[in-house]
Amino acid sequence: MEEKSRGQWTSGFGFLMAAVGSAVGLGNIWGFPYKMGANGGFAFLVLYLILAAIVGVAVMVGEIALGRRTGMGAVGTYIALSKRFKWVGWLGAVSAFLIMGFYSVIGGYVIKYFVLNLGMIFGAAPGAGGDIFNALLLNPVEGVVYTFVFMVATCVIVMGGIAGGIEKFSKVAMPALAVMLLIIIVRAVTLDGAAAGLAFMLKPNFQPLRDDFLGVLKTASGQMFFSLSLGMGCMLTYGSYLSKKENVEKNSWLIVVSDTIVALLAGFAVVPAAFALNGKASAGPGLLFVVMQDVFAKMGALGGLFGAIFYLLVIIAAVSSSISLVEVVTTFFMDSAKAKGKEGNRKAIAIWVCVVMMVLAAITAIDGLGANEKFWKPLGFAWIDFFDLWSEGIFMPLGALFMSLMIGWELGVKRFFDDILGGESFKTRKLFEISIKFIVPVGMLIVLWGQLQSFGILK
Ligand code: TRP
Repeated sequence: MEEKSRGQWTSGFGFLMAAVGSAVGLGNIWGFPYKMGANGGFAFLVLYLILAAIVGVAVMVGEIALGRRTGMGAVGTYIALSKRFKWVGWLGAVSAFLIMGFYSVIGGYVIKYFVLNLGMIFGAAPGAGGDIFNALLLNPVEGVVYTFVFMVATCVIVMGGIAGGIEKFSKVAMPALAVMLLIIIVRAVTLDGAAAGLAFMLKPNFQPLRDDFLGVLKTASGQMFFSLSLGMGCMLTYGSYLSKKENVEKNSWLIVVSDTIVALLAGFAVVPAAFALNGKASAGPGLLFVVMQDVFAKMGALGGLFGAIFYLLVIIAAVSSSISLVEVVTTFFMDSAKAKGKEGNRKAIAIWVCVVMMVLAAITAIDGLGANEKFWKPLGFAWIDFFDLWSEGIFMPLGALFMSLMIGWELGVKRFFDDILGGESFKTRKLFEISIKFIVPVGMLIVLWGQLQSFGILK
């Protein structure tokens, strides 16, 4: 009865769509293309693929298996399984708040662009991407309102529960996202001048690795990690609702491969379009909000339609990720209630979690991602950087580092396969063992170092 009352995915497909939904997000569509653009195109891509297969899959397997074994969220799982790393789950819970403190603001901005392009369908003048973006950043009220809309959408889905909310949404939203993305790709690669963008992504060129191997390595591993939703218990939490009948290794590969394909496809949509517009794709964070908007504005009559489709697919990607972040904390409170013999009120919990996240996000929104310098001056750096530093920069690499140490060295790989995975079939055992014991810990230290460096804390 206890098992039942906690809820479960109704099917393996449902779990897969939810997990892919968590992974596929702003990281794929906004982060991946511009980071690839700024870090050597093809060379970045190759390194990314290797990292995802070796480090990404191992951490994914670890998280899903741990959650499925205990049937609890991140906090409860580490307390139950580890002596030395009891507190690691807390890093995840705190990270969820910090990530949502900026993720929902960017999600909100995307809603604004969707509305804008809808308007263009009905004849509104397109305007220049740069002007629109700057005005948005400097308009605290608009920023907070759109963030709020994004937060409400997220909250409503989480209130619906695992099967009735998250799974139901993801099963429809993820296939829809794929279709919309294909439409945008067809449009993007047929623009005049798009071919140079395709060549940039696909033409073998390893010179960037020779120039700055460590730089590309750090960026690619940080990106891979964020894109796969790893290091803070998201996948662990989703795994805790997974049936023991589902194979963890198979699902982990499917999630990693799907997320990587979507990142690539997003690259095929954005990079050629950016090349068609101005001959390069290294426009940085503005790629999504400045360059893409200009691309649609230039398309003429159908620009608004393609723009609306594009920004809608980004909204879907972002919402299906933010629900997983809210679920990490919601699951924690539901589990705590259950441990006290009470039935947690999911709706009330989800609302409170989102209210607190909204307060943090409002700060980032008022701050305009750092554009309103007066607002963050006393702190010393922009709020988004502050939230991002502690989550992506510190807590998440540490979370994955400690998880790999716990699995590889505290529990031991044998116990992991026999007990945590319940002896189910596992084809890439040796690779997993080497990964989790050696490559992941070292990789996480590199990510940590890279992140601290990018925030100017380490030289
Ligand atoms: N993976 C998502 C993206 O690419 C964001 C995300 C969701 C995330 N849950 C996470 C990132 C947990 C890190 C940890 O946009």
